[in-house]
Amino acid sequence: MAWCAHHLRRLSDHAVALLTCGGAVRWLVCAGTLFVSGCDGVQSTLSPAGREAERIADLFWWMTVGTVVVWLGVIGLTLYAVRARSEARNERRDGLLIIGGGVVVPTVTLTVLLVYGLAMLPPLVAPAPAGSLKIAVSGEQWWWRVRYQPPGGEAITLANEIRLPVGEPVQFRLDSPDVIHSFWIPSLGGKMDMIPGRVTYLALHPTKTGVFRGACAEYCGTSHALMNFPVVVQEKEEFARWLAQQAEPAQPPADSLTARGQELFLADGCSACHTVRGTPANGVIGPDLTHVGSRLSLAAGTLPNEPDNFRRWVAHTTDVKPGATMPAFHMLPHEDLRALAAYLKGLK
Ligand code: CUA
Repeated sequence: MAWCAHHLRRLSDHAVALLTCGGAVRWLVCAGTLFVSGCDGVQSTLSPAGREAERIADLFWWMTVGTVVVWLGVIGLTLYAVRARSEARNERRDGLLIIGGGVVVPTVTLTVLLVYGLAMLPPLVAPAPAGSLKIAVSGEQWWWRVRYQPPGGEAITLANEIRLPVGEPVQFRLDSPDVIHSFWIPSLGGKMDMIPGRVTYLALHPTKTGVFRGACAEYCGTSHALMNFPVVVQEKEEFARWLAQQAEPAQPPADSLTARGQELFLADGCSACHTVRGTPANGVIGPDLTHVGSRLSLAAGTLPNEPDNFRRWVAHTTDVKPGATMPAFHMLPHEDLRALAAYLKGLK
C-alpha cells in the first residue's frame, strides 16, 4: 500500500508539472519524464534486476519501436492521401504504395518482431544449471509456502519472503494445493502459473542487489490482491549467513512478556496450524513462524512487520485479509494480545 501511495503521489506531482508546463517542447519533456518515472520502482518489468527481466524489457522496447514506426508510416500515408492534389496522383505509384505500405511493410515488420520474440522463448524457459539453489514455492490461500533446498543440505521451510544471492541462477519449483495462482517477480523475470495437480518450473538469475516485490498474478479468490512477498537480493556471503540463521530453531523467549506469549501461543491453539521449530508447535496448515519476526512484512506483504501489526493481525485477521482461513482472536484480553505480539515479533 505504501508503495502504491508513493507512486500515486509521484504521478500526481508529475501531472501537476505537466499541466503547468508551457510550450510544446516543455510539454514533451514533461510527458517523457512522466512516462519514464513510471518505469522504476520495486515491482517494474521496465526496471530489470535480473537476466530474464532484461530480455523481457528489451522485447518491450523493440515492440514499442516497431509500433511507433508502423504508426508513423500509417499517419504519413493518411496525410499524403488527404493532402495530395488529385492531378498529382499516378495509378502505378498508388498501386505500389498500397502493396508496399499495406502488405510488404507490415508483413516484414511483424515477421521480424515475431522471430525476435520467439527466439527469446527457449532461454526464458530453460532450467537453471545443475547444482543451482533450488526453492520450492507453493501458492496457498493467500500466502506463500517457501522451501529452500540448498545443494547438499536439508530443506528449510519458510514463508512469505524470498531471499536470493546476486549473480547466481536459482531454480524455482512451483505448485498449489487447491486453486491456480501465478508467481511473479516483475523486476527479475516473467510470471509462471502455479496449478493444482501439476508442477511448473521457473529459473531466475538476479543481477542487482536490492529489495523487490513479488505478487500473485492470477485471480485466485477474495484476497488475491493481498498475496505479495518481499524479494531480497543479497551478496552471496550475506545470503549464506541469512539462510544458515533461518535453518536454526527459534531462540527461547528473552523475557517474561515473550515467555507469556509463547505459553499463550501453545495454549490457544496457534500451534495446531503453525510451526515454530524448537518448540512443540508443529502445525503445517499455516505459514512457518520460526523466524517471522525477522521478515520484512506480515500476512504475505500486507502489513509492515511491527508489534502493533502482529496484534492487529491476530485480533482482526479477516478485516486485514478478507477470506483468510485463520480465525480472528478478538476475544483475547488486550494483555494476552500484547504478549502474543511480543513473542511473535521476538521470533527473529
Ligand atoms: Cu494467488 Cu492470486
